[in-house]
Order: sequence, then C-alpha cells, then structure tokens
Amino acid sequence: MHAELVCFEARCRARFPITEVFYTCPRCGGLLEVGYTGVLRPVGTLREVWRARRMNDAPLDRSGVWRYREIIPFLESYDRVVSLGEGNTPLLSAPRAAEYAGLDRLAFKHQGYNPSGSFKDNGMTCGVAQALRLGMKRVGCVSTGNTSASMAAYASAAGLQPIVFIPHGNISYGKLAQALEYGARTFQVEANFDEILALVRTCADRLGIYLLNSINPFRIEGQKTIIVEMMEQRGWKPPHWIVLPGGNLGNTAAFGKALREMLEWGLIERLPRLAVIQAEGAAPFYELMRSAERGALKAVGQPETLATAIRIGDPVSWPKALHEVTNTGGQVEKVSEQEIADAKAVIGQCGIGCEPASAATLAGIRKLRAAGVIRPDADVVAVLTGNLLKDPDYIYRYHTGQLQTPRGEAIHSTFGNQPEVVPNDPDKIAAVLGQ
Ligand code: F0G
Repeated sequence: MHAELVCFEARCRARFPITEVFYTCPRCGGLLEVGYTGVLRPVGTLREVWRARRMNDAPLDRSGVWRYREIIPFLESYDRVVSLGEGNTPLLSAPRAAEYAGLDRLAFKHQGYNPSGSFKDNGMTCGVAQALRLGMKRVGCVSTGNTSASMAAYASAAGLQPIVFIPHGNISYGKLAQALEYGARTFQVEANFDEILALVRTCADRLGIYLLNSINPFRIEGQKTIIVEMMEQRGWKPPHWIVLPGGNLGNTAAFGKALREMLEWGLIERLPRLAVIQAEGAAPFYELMRSAERGALKAVGQPETLATAIRIGDPVSWPKALHEVTNTGGQVEKVSEQEIADAKAVIGQCGIGCEPASAATLAGIRKLRAAGVIRPDADVVAVLTGNLLKDPDYIYRYHTGQLQTPRGEAIHSTFGNQPEVVPNDPDKIAAVLGQ
C-alpha cells in the first residue's frame, strides 16, 4: 500500500508526500487525511492474521492498534513504534443502561480501559510514531485533558519532550495530574480550548513543536482501530448505531473513515449509523446539522459544560464530521447537564463507570429513543471515551447533592448515593442495615 497526505476538500483533493509536516492543505487550507492506494490482503486472511496476533508476545502484535497495522499502513518500518499496550478494550453488555435508555440491549465499547485512561491512546501511539519517523524532538498539544495525558505518556516513553497547553482551571485534576506525572512541560493558559488551539498553531513551527492534536491525520489513523476492534469483537457484524460524544470531532472523523474504508475493503457489508452527542452548552455541530443549508459551522464563543472534555466551541474537524455523519445517515443530538449527570450515574450502577463526556452517549441514546429515531430493538454500541477516575470531584459532588451547572443551577442527584458516617460499633452498623 502507498500512503499519502490528501486534502479532504472535495474541490481540492491535493496530494502530498506522507513525510510533509502539514496540518492543513497548503493549497486550500482544508483538513488533511491519510490516503492509501494499492491492494489490501484478502479479507479472510487478514481476519485470521489479526486474530492470531493476539496470541503472540511481541508488543506490536499485542497492541490493539498495531495488531491491525494493515489498515493503518503509513509507516515503512515498525522498529521505533512505542506501544504502552493500547487498545484491547472490552465490549461490555449493560442491561441496566439499556433499560434506562428504552432499548432491549446496549453495549459499551469502553476506551477508558486504555493505558492513560482514554481513547486518545489509540491515536497517540500513531502520532508519536510519525513524530519519531520525522525526526521530531518536541511534541505539543492543546487539550481539555485527555489528549495531554496521553501525549505526555507516549512522548515520554518515546524520549520526546511533551509540551502541553491547557485551559487554566477547566480541566479535571486527574488529567492535569497525569500530564505532570508523565513529565510534560505544562502551560496553563488563561483562555479557552479554541483560543489556545489558535495560539499553538501559530507558534508550533517557531518552537519546533510537532502538533499532536486531532487535526494531526496520524492520530485519526490510530483512532480508526477502535472501530476495527469493535467489529472484530462482534464477528464483523456492524451494529445499527454507533454512538459517541462530540467535542473537537476528531473521533467522529476517525470512526467515519474507518467505516468507509472497511466497507470499501470488504471487511464489513454495510455502514452503521453514527450518532454524535454534544453537551447543550457546547453544541455547534448540533446546530450546524439542524441548519437548513449545513454551510459553515458557527462557533460557540463561550462554550460551557461540566463535561470539560467536550467544552469546545469551534471544533476543528467539523468538515470531516459533517461528511462522515451524513455518509452514514447519522444523527447529532445535544443533552443537558442534568441528563449527562444522571446517565453517568446509571453507567456507574452497571459496574462500568465513565467520565462525564462519555456519559453524554447514554443520555443522547435515551433522547433519540424517546424521539423515535432509534428503535427499541436496535443494536446499539456506545463508545465510552474516558475512565471513571478521570474526574472524581464531579462524582463526589453529584452523589452528595453539590453538583451545579456552569450557570450555578443545582443538578438533582437523581441516583445519588451518599457516603454515610457510622460509629465504630457493630450493633449500630447492623441497625443502620436494618438487621
Ligand atoms: N470524550 C472524551 C473523554 C474526550 O476527552 C474528548 C476529547 C471527547 C470525548 C471528544 O472527542 O474531540 O474527538 O470529538 N478530548 C480532547 C482532549 C479535546 O483535548 O482531550 P473529539
């Protein structure tokens, strides 16, 4: 297979060597994606090879990203790839959550089981591999917390210097702690995600920083494997719906590309529909999809949500996401802070748990189900993007009735579970339990 950088804009489609350090098309300013030409191995053989690799001990074969390397063939050599054991995340059946949403069944593909606790690891191992191939020494990103945690881990493991830029006061401590512990230079900027992305794009060249935001097409390649692994786990039978939260919309772009390529290459026989869920206070993509002409995205100037991972008002990958959601006959929905908080508690009650942004999926499914868009007998997979422990502060506040929306309105602890203080006395504890 031959890999190139290809402009995503249909009217341009300019092609560039895979080793160019471009984040957008130098001709038209459009987004770039990795394009492949050539012949993929026969599908039957590929499926067997991928399955057999699970039994090997070589780190590359054990990786839930590089195991599928035939579908992300942008490197000439895998010698310097750094794997931290990414991917290999479970597909978990969740009857309690299905019932809450009004579905017969529901499964969660839980990307929070990744080494740094989010789906970013699938993409980051690829982005860092490309940085090494290009001879870069320094990598950087702006982040709502998960990209920075992941980049810090992979860059440090690869011997690169990670520099992260984060919105001051608006990322969870769990994520900030990871960036510090993994050894990133961490700059807290007094601005929001969108403003800092513009800043970082301006100074990346000057500071010799290779950008590892999801605008980087190699990150998108790695995130494709989330879908490949999901299909493998399902015996290559696509669900009716794949539901994911939308922030900067890189993951939506990745899922759509994976589905397109898998269909083209004969790995699946039909496309599932993508449903992207945004938080009400940061829902520019929802508004775009609702507008009659679906022209250009109107940024939200001051995005607000307690699901800080998706607190983004000007998502970079919207042209790709628009194409992919439309191509699958998909949907975009928005959900309130209360809906996210309650859905999150229900996912917790399944013994699964996730961070707030991930819970937007269940809240969105419930809403789409109630509106009759998703049928009760539909086969639905929701992608939980981040681990429960990313944001414990939110959880404690919810269960103790202290959670408030960014505007200061109380969030009701519908499924609250308060810790109880009990005396050091077996009889009294028995009495509390009604025995
Ligand atoms: N869920 C979680 C837990 C995230 O961290 C993000 C994005 C998303 C969903 C949305 O994904 O941007 O591809 O649409 N986090 C980025 C970050 C922005 O910096 O960690 P998206």
